[in-house]
Amino acid sequence: MNNAKNAMKNLSNKHILVGVTGGIAAYKSVELVRRLREHGAEVQVVMTEGAKAFVTPLTFQAVSGQPVHGDLLDPTAEAGMGHIELARWADLVVVVPASANFMARFAHGMADDLLTTLCLATTARVVLAPAMNQQMWQHSATQSNAALLQQRGVTLWGPASGSQACGEVGPGRLLEVPDLLEHIANSFNTGLLAGIKMLITAGPTIEAIDPVRYFTNRSSGKMGYALAQAAAEAGAIVTLISGPTHLTPPAVHHFVAVTSALDMHQAVLDALPGQDIYVGAAAVADYRCENIAPHKLKKSDKDISLTLVRNPDIIAEVAKHSPHIYTVGFAAQTEDLDAQAKAKLVAKGLDMIAANVVGEGKGFQVDHNTLSVYWQGGQHTLPTMAKYPLACQLIQLIARNYETKR
Ligand code: PMT
Repeated sequence: MNNAKNAMKNLSNKHILVGVTGGIAAYKSVELVRRLREHGAEVQVVMTEGAKAFVTPLTFQAVSGQPVHGDLLDPTAEAGMGHIELARWADLVVVVPASANFMARFAHGMADDLLTTLCLATTARVVLAPAMNQQMWQHSATQSNAALLQQRGVTLWGPASGSQACGEVGPGRLLEVPDLLEHIANSFNTGLLAGIKMLITAGPTIEAIDPVRYFTNRSSGKMGYALAQAAAEAGAIVTLISGPTHLTPPAVHHFVAVTSALDMHQAVLDALPGQDIYVGAAAVADYRCENIAPHKLKKSDKDISLTLVRNPDIIAEVAKHSPHIYTVGFAAQTEDLDAQAKAKLVAKGLDMIAANVVGEGKGFQVDHNTLSVYWQGGQHTLPTMAKYPLACQLIQLIARNYETKR
């Protein structure tokens, strides 16, 4: 019971796209959407034409708090949440109920409505909860469509067996809403890093000039927080050390708020013993003021200069003094991404580096990112997507390479 309660925390702030197809069980997805939102998930609903014969879009609009999507070629939707945007927005696509017709069209790659199109376009996990007459479910056409979809990585939850709305008895019932809810919550637990201790830094640092002035950078903490969330869901025991951000920290084992690079350096040293993996997603200031003025600097007619001194390179120090810890750095570059990232991997003695382009609306602050990941003898590019699914994919890469090294 406690496990189920804990798993529900996974739903907080998740982007869940609920697809609804034409079937009597469509009314149950109204309750599912309501319960997902109660647990803190953001939900967008996409309805097929068939679904609208069973439940009105207005009902889903009311429970999801968002306009309902239905038309592939709706010019107004394209300007807002078009199919590609929806496909990128989703952390999980769950089709409840999935009719035999929908499964057939999806299995054959037919992008002939909004729901099938975005199921093909998304990099998020796609799950179907089938519901249909038991003969239709057992028909060899449906069975081979189900098998084909599963071979391609689509997950099926259900159907359950029992009495059906049509009066027949057999397999084809939609799973009950509490079961679907639990499956969705658990789907974010991968167990890839079960019991591994991971220290993650996130956000900017703030370097004081005087009691009222400081310098900082544009990091929002989104990338580091998404990684902390993904790592915790993968079973890691996460310590998150964060510079100042406006974000609510994810549910991690230990959270430490810091301000300056020196604070972050000390917090990392304090938390380091016993860690297995260190991920430096923070944008740490390379320099600080040599002297922080004790009083507000007064304006005069003369120009002034600040002397900046080097801050410790935290991740390089971790890599040098704790070689048993698997170190993953980030490289934030405005140009020459690959060469600079590879150079940092070697110069800082890291096991892995994730490089991103920053500036001009990229990397910092925004919700999406793209990563080129390098390690000794390997490279992998993670395409543009929202920071949470991107973090999940990076965690998979880290887990795989960490295991190999170990
Ligand atoms: O927070 P967001 O708005 O979501 O933006 C995400 C991000 C762009 C900040 C993130 O993806 C990112 O790139 N973080 C690292 C930023 C950075 O400082 O890059 P760098 O190339 O300057 O540093 C390389 C590595 O050394 C990083 O792992 C950094 O944490 C580490 N470092 C740098 C300086 C220092 N004094 N100590 C360090 O440990």
